[in-house]
Amino acid sequence: MLTDKTILLIIGGGIAAFRSLELMRRLRERGARVTPVLTPAAEQFVTPLSVSALAASKVYRDLFDLTDEAEMGHIELSRASDLVLVCPATANLMARMAQGQADDLATTLLLATDTPVMIVPAMNVRMWEHPATQRNLATLRGDGIKVVGPVDGAMACGEFGPGRLSEVPDILAAVEAHFADGPLKGRHILVTSGPTHEPIDPVRYIANRSSGAQGTAVAAALRDLGARVTFVTGPAEVPPPEGVEVVAVETAGQMRDAVEAALPADAAVMAAAVADWRVANASGSKMKKDGSGNAPALEFAENPDILAMVSQGDRRPHLVVGFAAETDDVTAHATAKRARKGCDWIVANDVSPDTGIMGGQENAVTLITAEGAEDWPRLSKAETARRLAERIAEALA
Ligand code: C5P
Repeated sequence: MLTDKTILLIIGGGIAAFRSLELMRRLRERGARVTPVLTPAAEQFVTPLSVSALAASKVYRDLFDLTDEAEMGHIELSRASDLVLVCPATANLMARMAQGQADDLATTLLLATDTPVMIVPAMNVRMWEHPATQRNLATLRGDGIKVVGPVDGAMACGEFGPGRLSEVPDILAAVEAHFADGPLKGRHILVTSGPTHEPIDPVRYIANRSSGAQGTAVAAALRDLGARVTFVTGPAEVPPPEGVEVVAVETAGQMRDAVEAALPADAAVMAAAVADWRVANASGSKMKKDGSGNAPALEFAENPDILAMVSQGDRRPHLVVGFAAETDDVTAHATAKRARKGCDWIVANDVSPDTGIMGGQENAVTLITAEGAEDWPRLSKAETARRLAERIAEALA
């Protein structure tokens, strides 16, 4: 997704500087070129040699390095990139940026650039919360600088709280989202995915065979078309895509709450295999065999129908897409389901065991809309997702 993008990476002098090494690798894996700049303080934490090796680039360090000026002046260096990324952005660097100082190469580049700037702050929690830093943060935001994190967590100094550098996948997601440009740019789409787990007792649960593969592929395809995706997922086998906001849940009840919290959205794609029933008499402690040979009797209660709730609610997205896994008479059942739930489209598939679709890599779906039923060929789940995302983009256009 970052093919041919040049990222000027300014590494500030903080304990989190070592994480910029991993970040450079991941940026390059995605096709970006990385031009690294080290502040003098950063050299106390990472060596120019390791930075250069991981960036596969010359490292720029000194404002007065005449060779650099001959090769590429600092003005040009600052402008020949698509994004200036400051990671980690220390309290000191943020203060100098907010002031407009230009007392080293990093700050001179930041002052000379007309390229978008994104900072990833990391510092001790007291420094982060200090009114001076918060003032600088507000100034930088006002100057149009994008800010990623920081997040809450344990700090290298032993304290706990906001100030931790965002995780590398989240930084990447922010960078990718910055460049994302497609027909769904500016749209918010909610995707549910995966199974739900309904507890029987603290250690046992009822689940289903959904792997989350199709929902994950749909979320990734929507992201690739530029959408901002909220991905509400049950305990799936496949990891969630990067570059989407992940809300991990376990039960149908939690999924409903997460979906309500994620609205409003321009579209909702409900690919989760939500359990129809939960155990009404779930036990708060582990159930034990009592030696009598009697098995416990489970009682079930119906779960909320999240798709119907979203389709019929007052914050209904413009387009609501449901999924229907059927084992027989797919089109007829799915067409009836579309009417019953009140959604716009149903993506129906045959999950009879002999199709190998549930938990597999491929899918063969029928798209049910107000106009009728369309049979799609058997495709990879990724390709099915791409087609669906394109249809969603057309419908929202
Ligand atoms: O009713 P059925 O489970 O066959 O319908 C499948 C569709 O309904 C899927 O889109 C699924 O995400 C959604 N669903 C739901 N809440 C439920 C059951 C299903 O949102 N409790």
